[in-house]
Amino acid sequence: MATEPAPLRKIADAAPDPLATGVEPLVRFDKVVKRYGDHVVLDELDFTVRRGEHVTLIGPSGSGKTTILRLLMTLEKVSDGVIWVDGSPLSHVRTPSGALKPAGEKQLRESRKKIGMVFQQFNLFPNMKVLQNITEAPVNVLGMDKDEAETRARELLDLVGLSGKIDAHPSQLSGGQQQRVAIARALAMRPEILLLDEVTSALDPELVAGVLDLLCDIARNTNITMLCVTHEMNFARDVSEKVLMFDAGRVVESGSPEKIFTDPEHERTREFLNAVL
Ligand SMILES: Nc1ncnc2c1ncn2[C@@H]1O[C@H](COP(=O)(O)OP(=O)(O)OP(=O)(O)O)[C@@H](O)[C@H]1O
Ligand SMILES: [Mg+2]
Repeated sequence: MATEPAPLRKIADAAPDPLATGVEPLVRFDKVVKRYGDHVVLDELDFTVRRGEHVTLIGPSGSGKTTILRLLMTLEKVSDGVIWVDGSPLSHVRTPSGALKPAGEKQLRESRKKIGMVFQQFNLFPNMKVLQNITEAPVNVLGMDKDEAETRARELLDLVGLSGKIDAHPSQLSGGQQQRVAIARALAMRPEILLLDEVTSALDPELVAGVLDLLCDIARNTNITMLCVTHEMNFARDVSEKVLMFDAGRVVESGSPEKIFTDPEHERTREFLNAVL
């Protein structure tokens, strides 16, 4: 279904520019609404993520977790509200009169460069070898020199333990290996923010630990900011400093993994955790 254009918002109506307040979350959802027709998926959603923070999103199926990541990846447009990244509106541009208007394709392409996403189903380019899968976007989107992109791709394949598969096609790789390539591909863009949407759900159980260990290493050894949707609660505990519990398009509660998993405030969180743990 086509998404309706977001209305113009006067800058005075929007939240204060995070830079101006001296507090600078890297990501800020300000009363973000997402509707499909009459169905309100996100309902004036507010939350922030600090630079370098690793945040896990949990909540029942249909609560809007993937929608949040797709909005951040600019694969979807907000129906209302503003998403701020690094003090600038991701979803909007400022007009000379100071109003915010929905961003056009060109600006969205720019915004997308800051953000990488790894999907449940890998989504590798099936007709390209592993190396090309990783160099494609740096060369064609960032305009990186081909040799530089290949050097970087080799380093990343080393990082994800797949140096030997540089000339393989995705169909010749296991699910776990494909997901490692997808992680390398996302990192090749040097994103500030890495979005992970149930990245181990489609993997055979014995392949899950390897991918989660890799993500823990990336979280510990880089300064990348991570937003991660997962049902792997041990991974969430290991990797994240903050857990956000969603229901019906709103944050029910947030806190450290320790707090949310062992002493949640809300009945809805207790019910959800009882069902998944
Ligand atoms: N393109 C679309 N058109 C219409 N409705 C949509 C669309 N995408 C998502 N929705 C609806 O938005 C709601 C939230 O979906 P979303 O995929 O964000 O949920 P989720 O929390 O990721 O669920 P899950 O845990 O099952 O992945 C669902 O009710 C879904 O049906
Ligand atoms: Mg989802």
